[in-house]
Amino acid sequence: VPTVKQILADKAIKGVYTVDAGYTVHAAVALLAYHGIGALVVVDNDEPVGIFSERDYARKGIITGKRSHETPVRELMSAPLVTVSPDQTMEECMELMTSRRFRHLPVVEDGKLVGMVAIGDVLMQVVAAQRSTIDQLQGYITGKY
Ligand SMILES: NC(=O)c1ccc[n+]([C@@H]2O[C@H](COP(=O)([O-])OP(=O)(O)OC[C@H]3O[C@@H](n4cnc5c(N)ncnc54)[C@H](O)[C@@H]3O)[C@@H](O)[C@H]2O)c1
Repeated sequence: VPTVKQILADKAIKGVYTVDAGYTVHAAVALLAYHGIGALVVVDNDEPVGIFSERDYARKGIITGKRSHETPVRELMSAPLVTVSPDQTMEECMELMTSRRFRHLPVVEDGKLVGMVAIGDVLMQVVAAQRSTIDQLQGYITGKY
């Protein structure tokens, strides 16, 4: 059973992209675009305090008509933060993502932010596992084993 630690090891992006809670929404959206990602962990004095995603912007930013140049990220972020630990399983991540409609789970170890698991990272693991099962079954059917 894959763990969060393994998911992080297979990711192309190492580390976690964050944004300060006092930064403007405009700056945060620019960071999302610049890094080509869907969510940033929001930090306040180096403490993770929330998450700011494309969805937060789409649902709370545009509709409420707040000015992105004047509104701090802390006003649009989702909080409190729901996190996972490196030893949790991929199944636990899938369960959280499905039941609570999360696409991103920040990973925390000993109170420190150590990674980010996105829905695409989980999907990549599922597809790889299925491919390996199919290969084994094909080998079995064609008498390779
Ligand atoms: N081929 C791959 O390896 C791969 C991996 C992940 C996602 N994707 C694709 O990218 C698209 C969007 O993916 P998504 O919905 O999972 O979300 P996303 O666009 O936010 O994530 C893309 C990648 O960036 C990483 N990431 C996102 N925010 C991060 C942050 N703040 N700090 C560090 N890393 C961060 C994710 O873990 C993931 O690996 C989908 O089409 C998905 O299939 C591909």
